[in-house]
Amino acid sequence: MDLLLFALDKNNDKPLYEQLYLNLKDAIIQKQIATGTKLPSKRQLAEFLNISQTTIELSYGQLLAEGYIISKPRIGYFVEEIDELPYIEKTISSPISIPSPVESFIFDFSPGKIDENGFPFKIWRKYAKDLLDESSKSLLQIGHRQGEQELRAQIARYLYESRRIHCNVEQIVIGSGTEHLLPMILRLFQDDSKLALENPGYSAIPRNDLQHRAIPISVDEDGLVVDELENSAADLVYITPSHQFPTGAVLSATRRTQLLKWAAQNPTRYIIEDDYDSEFRYIGKPIPALQGLDQNDKVIYMSTFTKSLMPSLRVAYFVLPLSLVPKYREIFNYYSATVPRFDQHILANFMKDGHFSKHLNRMRKLYRKKHDKLITVLSKNYPNIMVTGDVAGMHVLISVPSALPESELKARARQANINIYPLSKYVLAPIPYEHPTFLLGFGGIPLEKIEEAVHALMNSFTH
Ligand SMILES: Cc1ncc(COP(=O)(O)O)c(C=O)c1O
Repeated sequence: MDLLLFALDKNNDKPLYEQLYLNLKDAIIQKQIATGTKLPSKRQLAEFLNISQTTIELSYGQLLAEGYIISKPRIGYFVEEIDELPYIEKTISSPISIPSPVESFIFDFSPGKIDENGFPFKIWRKYAKDLLDESSKSLLQIGHRQGEQELRAQIARYLYESRRIHCNVEQIVIGSGTEHLLPMILRLFQDDSKLALENPGYSAIPRNDLQHRAIPISVDEDGLVVDELENSAADLVYITPSHQFPTGAVLSATRRTQLLKWAAQNPTRYIIEDDYDSEFRYIGKPIPALQGLDQNDKVIYMSTFTKSLMPSLRVAYFVLPLSLVPKYREIFNYYSATVPRFDQHILANFMKDGHFSKHLNRMRKLYRKKHDKLITVLSKNYPNIMVTGDVAGMHVLISVPSALPESELKARARQANINIYPLSKYVLAPIPYEHPTFLLGFGGIPLEKIEEAVHALMNSFTH
């Protein structure tokens, strides 16, 4: 009987008989009360739980009706055999409060935020609506492991037109974000092969898993220091040549050639080129992708729709050198694409009809305005602040000549409800830098708020 000592609450919104019925049902389903067990009589259980016999009668009645127990006249109630796994409704008496990990700030200078007002919802909705229809029912089945052919074809066309990348759809793999694709790429190589990473660099690289494999390589105003790479034991290098993350340096022409030569010298060497925000350039001509210059099948090119469309879409892709395609197919033969087919087709149709390039053109203009505004406000009002990495992308670096450390400045900004991102967050091995340095993302701050946001940030540093 002790098993039936349920906590029944008279003040609960649910009547006592329902609470008891739910508790008993749960205990039967979970096999806490074995099949065939005789339940206590109504009178015994009423006394034991100190509630009325009518309450017990109602509960038993419900369990009888649902087949959880049977009644044997003049003998009692017995727990029935349940053949199928029933659907268990969990009742939560009071809502569990889980602290939300998403913080909100008056101004968030996150380098990962995009403008929320420029997205063509109407057009996107039309494509989504057209697709969510019986005529697309074949999309309910699993799709191509590397991603939908239609989307890969659009990506191949876009890459050729905008980045002079030559590839066919067989070389393209679509997946839900760079952070998921990178570990896939690394699986194509020996577990013990050393991976050179830019320092500072992209923080989503799984550094902890790679601790024994990662070799930090310095970055200067010409991008990755290839001499250092040449002197390292690395066979693979991850690099952001068009717009180094986070410093914004562009890999110089000399270093590009040097890097491609480095890769060509050994059959085991490869370059992973992350071209993530090359669409947005404010100064100078577009920088061609390394992949297009490579004559030796040595570059694995990757990019994403995170900045060009939205981070929440979770669509990124890589382009394998032809020589790595068989190896990829061998290893990932059993893995399905991680992006829903419907989303892939919406995007493919959006691109095919020219909306992606129109959207990019519109966003380029908007981000250029935001970028110019940010630079003007900083240079006019805060001449001591050094701004770098401002040729492309959606953030710049500011170096703040303050006696206070980076952490204190960040804490002060946070006190004023402003979020900024210290350079130290992206450092793989210690690097000397003179003043506290922060990434100032402007993508998510409305154009008309940029001036106010910069003043609020600078004020927070001195208060
Ligand atoms: C260097 C770099 N690569 C890629 C990305 C985008 O990653 P994902 O495709 O996972 O959104 C970012 C995001 O800011 C980045 O900084």
